[in-house]
Formats: sequence, structure tokens, C-alpha cells
Amino acid sequence: MASAPRIIAANTAPEIITEFASDVVVGLSQPGQKELPSKYLYDEVGSGLFDVICLLPEYGLSRAGMRLLQRHSSEIVARLQSPVVVAELGSGSGVKTRLLLEALSRQQRVNYYPIDISLSALNRCQQEIGQMDQVSIVGFERAYLDGLQEVAARRKDGERLLVLFLGSTIGNFDRPAGDQFLREVRAVLQKDDALLLATDLEKPIPQLLSAYDDAAGVTAAFDMNLLARINRELDADFDLSLFKHVARYDQSERRVEMHLQSKAWQRITIRKAGFRFYLREGETIWTESSHKYNPQEVVQMGERTGYRCDGQWFDTEWPFAQNLFFAV
Ligand code: AVJ
Repeated sequence: MASAPRIIAANTAPEIITEFASDVVVGLSQPGQKELPSKYLYDEVGSGLFDVICLLPEYGLSRAGMRLLQRHSSEIVARLQSPVVVAELGSGSGVKTRLLLEALSRQQRVNYYPIDISLSALNRCQQEIGQMDQVSIVGFERAYLDGLQEVAARRKDGERLLVLFLGSTIGNFDRPAGDQFLREVRAVLQKDDALLLATDLEKPIPQLLSAYDDAAGVTAAFDMNLLARINRELDADFDLSLFKHVARYDQSERRVEMHLQSKAWQRITIRKAGFRFYLREGETIWTESSHKYNPQEVVQMGERTGYRCDGQWFDTEWPFAQNLFFAV
């Protein structure tokens, strides 16, 4: 076979660093709550720490998502109209995807397109899936919607798209933005295309808080790495010993929030951004939210945004759902 491109790379222009710098400056110069976009948690180090988070006893999400695909992949793929092309938003390690692609490849040959802004994630995914017989894989180093558009543009007549959004990453969006994202995905799809959406469900607050503030301090390190990354890439002078990782539950928004709390009054300089700012003692930088859902609201989310829900599968150990939507 001719060697097809296996990863379509991003344009790595100098603008990228400026984009990081300007997002950081915007978030930290906010008059009220300071914040940093959670997508920047996932550099090489952050992605490695996230993999370790998934091994923690306190963090049940990824194992739940995995068990659901182990148990129900065949049933899920049996509901799809073939032939189907698979696009995945956020390739992660590819371990969960493998389960689904195995089930699907018993029915047909599969073209699989992982989409991720992280080249290292695409490479890991390639390792995991690249060897599968019935599967050909082309990775897109792109933002989710840009990549999805490119995949959709490559589809042939009569092919259906299956979009995977596993791992409950939708929870990083607040509820209105989550709806908006589902609508934007829908706009790229055709009627009867499918979306498999994983969602973490509501559960007792102490259980949620320890999932995001584990005893070994891995989540704290994952959070703290964002400041270390800004030091590395933007020549900043964050003193990590002056910060504390905090996980909070917001009852009205039904989400866990991660914050980095300043232990003292301090001044921080980010040289490559030409930016200096101050933190009061106790003030926080909000780094991530993880929204928790109930099963009915996930169905309604789909219905509001251009889908019908064809099925939901629930884990018995850790409240978590895989939801299969079809575009209407
Ligand atoms: C990868 C977004 C699903 O929200 O649970 C894990 C990220 N942050 N621990 C989540 C995360 C802290 C995770 N997602």
C-alpha cells in the first residue's frame, strides 16, 4: 500500500505561543475571578499526569467509561447504520476507542480519524490502534470542530459518521457552552449520523471532591503543572510553593471546580507576555470545571441541540453514562 499520511499536522506557527500568552493574560487580568483555560493543562507533562489520575482509586470516571465499552460495544455498534466512518474528538490514549473499533471491525472495515490538538496524544493513539487489522487511521492535529469539518469533507456518499466524545470532556464546558458545542457538532453532521457522548453523573459530594483532590496529590500536581508550564514556556516566575490546589463543588452549577489558591500576597511577572499582576492572600485562579449530569438532562441536552437519544448505558459502580445520539 502507498504510504498515506498518518497524521495531518497543525501549522505550528509562532502565533501559537502568542495565543497561549494572550489567553493567559486575558484570564489573569480579569477584574473578578481570575482564570486559565483548562485546555492548557494538557501539555506533555499534564497529559502524563492525567494518565496517572486515571489509575487513582478515587478517580472512577475513566474505568467506568472503559467498563461500559467493554460490556456494551457490540450493542452500541449494532445500532449504527453501516458503512460508518469514525471521528474521535480528543484521541486520548486510544484504549477505550480500541474496544469500540474492535466491535465495529467485526462488521466492516473502519476508517478512524482521531482529532487532537496534542501531537503526542495522536502518536500514542497511533500506537494503540495502528496495529489493528481492519482499521486504517489518520490523525488530525486540530481543534475539535476544525478537525471534524475536515473529516466530514472526506466522507463518501452513503457513509455515516460516528463521532466519539468519550471521557466526559463535555463536562469542561458550562451548561450553555456544552449545548452550543453540541449544536456546532450537529451543524457538521448529516441526518442519522451518530454521536457517542460520555457523561459523568451526579454523585455524593465527598466522593466527587476526593476524585479531584486525591490523597497522593496527583491531581494537585496536574493542576500546579499549569503554572509550571507558564514558567517554562512564557518565562514567568510563579513560585509553586505559594499555591495550594483546591477542589470545590458548586451546588447550583452542579460542577467540581479546580482552583489554585494563593497562600500570600504576591506579584507575578510573565516576561514573554510583558505582563505583571498581583494575587491577594486567599485569592484563587480557576483552572477547570467538571460538570455532573443526571441521565434525563443528558437526553434533553441532545433533544435541544438537534439529536435524539437512542440509548443510554450506565455503569453500576461509578455513576457514569455512555449516550448514543442520532442527528435528526
Ligand atoms: C478529562 C475533562 C474528563 O473533568 O474529570 C481530571 C479532567 N481534571 N482530574 C475531568 C480532570 C482533574 C477530566 N476530563
